Amino acid sequence: MFKIALVLTTLIALLASPALADVPVQARSPNGEIAYQIGAGGEGRVNYSVTRNGKPLIGDSQLGFLFTDAPQMLRNFKLVDQATRSFDETWEQPWGEWRRVRNHYNEVSATFEEGSKLHRRMRVVARLFDDAVAFRIEFPRQPNLATANIAEELTQFRVVGDGEAWWDTAFESNREEYLYNRTKISEIGIAQTPMTIRPSDGTHIAFHEAALVDYSGMNIAKVQGGLLKAVLTPSSSGPKVTRDTPFVTPWRVMLITGDAPSLYAANVEILNLNEPNKLGDVSWVKPRKYVGIWWGMHLDTQSWASGAKHGATTAYARKMIDFAAANEFTGLLVEGWNKGWDGDWFANGDTFSFTEAYPDFDLPGVVAYGLKKGVHFIGHNETSANIAWYEPRMGAGFDMFQKLGVDAIKTGYVSDAGGVQAVGPDGKPRFEWHEGQVMVRHHLKVVTEAAKRHIAIDAHEPVKDTGLRRTYPSWISREGQRGMEYNAWGVPKNPPEHEANLVFTRMLSGPMDFTPGVLSLMGRGNTPILSTLAKQLALYVVIYSPIQMAADLPENLAANPGPLQFIKDVAVDWDDTKVLAGEVGDLAVIARKTRGKNEWFVGAVGDEQERHFDVPLGFLGEGRWRAEIYRDGDTADYRTNPRAIVIEQRKVSAGDRLALRIAPGGGAAVRFVSLGR
Ligand code: NOJ
Ligand code: CA
Repeated sequence: MFKIALVLTTLIALLASPALADVPVQARSPNGEIAYQIGAGGEGRVNYSVTRNGKPLIGDSQLGFLFTDAPQMLRNFKLVDQATRSFDETWEQPWGEWRRVRNHYNEVSATFEEGSKLHRRMRVVARLFDDAVAFRIEFPRQPNLATANIAEELTQFRVVGDGEAWWDTAFESNREEYLYNRTKISEIGIAQTPMTIRPSDGTHIAFHEAALVDYSGMNIAKVQGGLLKAVLTPSSSGPKVTRDTPFVTPWRVMLITGDAPSLYAANVEILNLNEPNKLGDVSWVKPRKYVGIWWGMHLDTQSWASGAKHGATTAYARKMIDFAAANEFTGLLVEGWNKGWDGDWFANGDTFSFTEAYPDFDLPGVVAYGLKKGVHFIGHNETSANIAWYEPRMGAGFDMFQKLGVDAIKTGYVSDAGGVQAVGPDGKPRFEWHEGQVMVRHHLKVVTEAAKRHIAIDAHEPVKDTGLRRTYPSWISREGQRGMEYNAWGVPKNPPEHEANLVFTRMLSGPMDFTPGVLSLMGRGNTPILSTLAKQLALYVVIYSPIQMAADLPENLAANPGPLQFIKDVAVDWDDTKVLAGEVGDLAVIARKTRGKNEWFVGAVGDEQERHFDVPLGFLGEGRWRAEIYRDGDTADYRTNPRAIVIEQRKVSAGDRLALRIAPGGGAAVRFVSLGR
C-alpha cells in the first residue's frame, strides 16, 4: 500500500465534571468549512448538527435505537468521554476511478451513558472530511446489552430549509430498480440511498452509508418537512439487526459539496470509510471489456432455457469467442449455460445447478477455446434469490470454475423484494429482503468464498454498494439500479435523463454493471431505446465500472464499425477522474485518464433537452493531442434521428476548448491520444 503521509494524533479528554458533560463536542473538517456538533440535549437526547461555512445544513437531529427485547436507547444520556484525532493518508486502489485516494479527516468520538438503571453506553464516532460528514455508533461490550436486537435505528437528518431531491423509492417489488423521483425535499417518501438533495442555497448533499457489514441496509424516510429519518431494511426474524456487543454500525454518510461535479468526486469518502484491502494480492482481479450471450435473451430472440431458442450452445459460444477475439474483447459472459432454467425459473431457484451444463453446451471446451484466444469466460450463477439453495452449493460451483480457469462470476438474485428464500436460525424457510442483514452477510460470504478461488464477483439484484470494494477488491461490480436491460423490455424504458440522474445518485456508491453499447438502438420487438448513438459510447466513460459490456448482439456491433472503434479503444481502469460539468439529472461531463497510459477520455450525457457547452481541455498534459470525437450529428435527436453521429478528428492542446452539442437524448465521447510535443 502506497502511503505518502500518515499523521495520527490522539487527544483524549476525560470529562470528569458534570458541568462539562453538558457542553456539546465539536469538530471541523480539515479546511474548516464543515462543522459538526454532538451532545446530550433536552431530556438527555443525543443530538448532532452540521453547518457548512457557518450556515446550518442539518439541524439538531437525534440518535438512538429501539430494541425488540429491551427498552429503547433515546433519553437520559450524559456525555462521559470524548476523544479527537486527525488522519491523513494517501492509498492506492488496485483498480478504480482514481489511482491514488487521499483519506484526510478529523475525527471526534463522544461516549454517552444512560442515567437510567441500565447504564448502557454508545460511542458516536464522527469523521469530518472537506466534502463529507460521517458517523457511526460503536456499542462497547456491556452487561445490559450483551446482544442488541435492534427493531429500528432512530437516526435523524433534519435538513434545514427546502429544496430539490432526487430519490429512488424503497421497499417496492423491483428492489433498487426504480426511476428517480425529482421532488421537493419536503415531498420525499421512503427513499433508498444514495439519495441526493439540493437545498435552495445550492449546496449538494448525498445521503448514503459506508461499510455495510453484518447489519441491515439503511433507507431514508421523511417524517415531516425537512425532517428525515433512517429506516432499516426488515428481517423475517423480528429484529432488523441482531448483533452481540461489541460491534459498530455502518457509517451514516453525508457527502456535502457546493456543486454536482464535486459531489461525484466526494464519493471517494465512501471508500475511505471502509477498511483497507483484506484480500492481499489481487492482481488476479482483471478489469476488462466483455461481450455476452445475454442481450438476445432480453430481446426474447434467444432463451436461457433449453430448446430451439437456447442461447448458450457450444457453437454459438465459439462464434462469440471468435467475435470477441477479433474485436479486442477479453471476456465472454454466458448466461443459460447451466441446468435449471426450464420452466418458471424465477419462481423458486431450487432447480438451478451450479456445476452441470446443458447437454448442448460443452463448458470445459468453450472455456478452453476462449482462453486459447485470450477471451476469459465469465460464469453466471442466477439464484432466483434462493440462498438456501445456493449457499450449500456455491462452493462446488466455484471449485469447478476455478479448475477451468474462470476468474469472474456474475451472480443474480431475481425475485420480488422481500422474496429472498433463506433458512432461519430454527432451520425453517424464511423470506428476507435483498438488503437485510441476512443478505448483507450472504454477499460477503459469496465474495470471500469466491476470492479464495481467485474468482471476482459481479452481483446483480445485489445489496447496495457501500465501498466494500476497498476491503474486498474482487467485488468488481454490481447492478443495483435500472441498467440497459430496461431498454429491452422495461415499461417504461429508461428516459433520457436516467444516466444524468445515476451519476449523482447510484454512482456515488460505486461501480455499476450497466451494460452499455446497444448500437442498434433497438429493444425487444424493434422498439426504439431513448438514446442517440453517440450517447451509447459516452456511457463507457460516464457510468463507471471496471468491467464494461458491449451489450448488443455481435451482428449489431459489427454493423457499426465506426462507433465500435470507440468501444474497442475506451479504457476501463483509470489513473484519474475529473467531472468537468454537471447538474443532477440534467448533464454529466466526465474526463478520465487511462491507467498507466498517456491517454484521456471524455464522456458527456445530457437529458431530453439539447445542450451546448465548451469542454475546457486543461486536464490534458503538455503537448499536442489528437481528439477522436464521436458526437451527435447536427440533426440528431433521440426521437427523430438517433443514429446521426459525427466521427471526426481534431488536433488540440490543453489551452483549447472543445465545443460540443448534445442532442436531446444524446451524448458525446472523445478519446485524446498524445502526439508528443
Ligand atoms: C437480471 C440480470 O440483471 C440480468 O442481467 C440477467 O440476464 C437476468 N437477471 C437473468 O439472470
Ligand atoms: Ca433533467
